[in-house]
Amino acid sequence: MRFTFARLIVLCCWAVLATAKYIVPGARWHDTDGNLISAHAGSVSFDDATGKFWWFGEYKVEGQTEGGGVSVYSSEDLATWAYHGLALEPIEGHPYISPDMIIQRPKVVYSGGQYHMWWHADNSSYGLLLQGLATSPRVGGTYTFANATSPLGNWSQDFGLFTDYKDGRSYALYSNGDRREARDVYIAAYDEGVSALEGVVHRFDKYDLEAPCIVQTESSYYALMSHKTGYRPNSPFTECVFDCTGKFNNMGVCVDVVAFRADSLAGPWSQPWIVAPLNTRGFNSQSGYTLTIRGTKKTTYLYLGDQWDSNSLWESRYIWLPMRIDDENKDLQIEWHDVYDLDVKTGDWKPVKGETYFGKNATTNGNAFKQEANFASDGIILTGIYGNDSTVAFSGIKGTGKPQWVSFYYQNTDDMGFGDQPGGSPDRIKGAWQLRRISSVVVNGDEANVQTLFQRDTHKGIILSTPLLLTLEEGSSNTITVGGLSNGVDYKGADLDRIIVYPPEL
Ligand SMILES: *[C@@H]1O[C@H](CO)[C@@H](O)[C@H](O)[C@H]1NC(C)=O
Ligand SMILES: *[C@@H]1O[C@H](CO)[C@@H](O)[C@H](O)[C@H]1NC(C)=O
Ligand SMILES: *[C@@H]1O[C@H](CO)[C@@H](O)[C@H](O)[C@H]1NC(C)=O
Ligand SMILES: *[C@@H]1O[C@H](CO)[C@@H](O)[C@H](O)[C@H]1NC(C)=O
Ligand SMILES: *[C@@H]1O[C@H](CO)[C@@H](O)[C@H](O)[C@H]1NC(C)=O
Repeated sequence: MRFTFARLIVLCCWAVLATAKYIVPGARWHDTDGNLISAHAGSVSFDDATGKFWWFGEYKVEGQTEGGGVSVYSSEDLATWAYHGLALEPIEGHPYISPDMIIQRPKVVYSGGQYHMWWHADNSSYGLLLQGLATSPRVGGTYTFANATSPLGNWSQDFGLFTDYKDGRSYALYSNGDRREARDVYIAAYDEGVSALEGVVHRFDKYDLEAPCIVQTESSYYALMSHKTGYRPNSPFTECVFDCTGKFNNMGVCVDVVAFRADSLAGPWSQPWIVAPLNTRGFNSQSGYTLTIRGTKKTTYLYLGDQWDSNSLWESRYIWLPMRIDDENKDLQIEWHDVYDLDVKTGDWKPVKGETYFGKNATTNGNAFKQEANFASDGIILTGIYGNDSTVAFSGIKGTGKPQWVSFYYQNTDDMGFGDQPGGSPDRIKGAWQLRRISSVVVNGDEANVQTLFQRDTHKGIILSTPLLLTLEEGSSNTITVGGLSNGVDYKGADLDRIIVYPPEL
């Protein structure tokens, strides 16, 4: 049989590689209770006292966009997360942390016997532009509100925090909002106690960027930020989740992540450059935070980004990827890997190898067909995927009987205009702005267990991947059928290039 040799190799390597849980960017991540992890635009840092990583973020549930407070999770391996409830709970009637206020982009840093949580504190129309502070003697909280202040008299919107590993000094990073006089990003130094700001260290003047974070190597600082594109989805199918005065910009619609480099935080800083392949918009993510693992063998720099989903914010995903930093050439790039295995002790990580099944070998049903596409594998892409009649099927797929990550490589060209904004061209789907298509995925004809595959818009000729955890039968006769489930207005699925099936986790 054609597959025998490959299967032997795969089995041998799966056993060797499957030592831990994998990191799977863009997947639905669940905590140890089986619930979706809800910690958006957050921060992850290692806490010496507990010997664990702690992840703080905006807590969002279905139907709710703001006001959920700050959730907290802990982990020993960055892949398995235990939920500890809300570290900062909204308080009804409170002037700054009531459920109708903005509590965004929380960051936590330890200093002088206290954990300090800082965030972007605001009212629902982004009219206050403050930085909130809450403290706790325990990393997991609960945190007690201290104050919300304007940083050195200025405005503060998207908030970040950076601690220099060489001297332990912490810095606030903040964009000062969308007003004409603003549109800057600041680096400002905290006092020793991280309880107030002392002075501005640098201002990124009028770049009109947001979502700042910094990663530090032995010789350089790299500041990552994302664009605000001014795209405002405005259609009957897209609920206006914020105030429609700018916050819709960063819902991952057309965000390019850029970086600047400097020898010192005070600068001079370089020109910005784009840190992911062109037209992938930072692999469909917005910068948020970075995490450096200084392991026993290797230092690994992780990019912790958010893949916002403005159609249902609570379903927004996390894009965590390694960054390749080349100080000699003064460059930083984010590397895509569908599935990777990170050892937080040694700092070593490796992409997990999977088995690829190409669109060329798939069968098409109904009106689905194979179309010439010089950017796709074998020069063809599967298109016309619609409803449950016009489907494509990949067969002869090897499985283990255990849940396995399967990455679907797709193209979705829906978002090429401004929806119905003046000067914009309508997108392809009945003139309505859509940020994702949803395909149905069925394993071995089991229609009772339809999986939903969210396919964020990409770009013309840009193929990205999105993962699903599927249980395939042991053996090599599995079939995966993909149909169109929903794109908000009809049943169109994205075009498919190939799928990759990964070995199971332990
Ligand atoms: C937010 O605060 C600003 C400044 O005080 C105020 O003008 C605006 O009305 C407030 N918005 C809401 C929704 O309370
Ligand atoms: C904030 O800083 C900008 C320059 O970066 C300045 O033009 C603006 O007046 C400042 N705003 C306040 C409230 O101080
Ligand atoms: C905010 O609270 C912190 C911690 O209690 C305190 O050190 C700081 O001085 C306060 N800032 C203002 C402006 O009150
Ligand atoms: C599927 O397609 C790839 C690439 O075109 C090819 O190398 C491979 O032999 C095909 N496999 C099968 C089972 O047809
Ligand atoms: C098939 O799709 C159509 C919409 O295209 C839907 O109305 C119907 O319920 C679906 N049938 C099944 C069995 O899912």
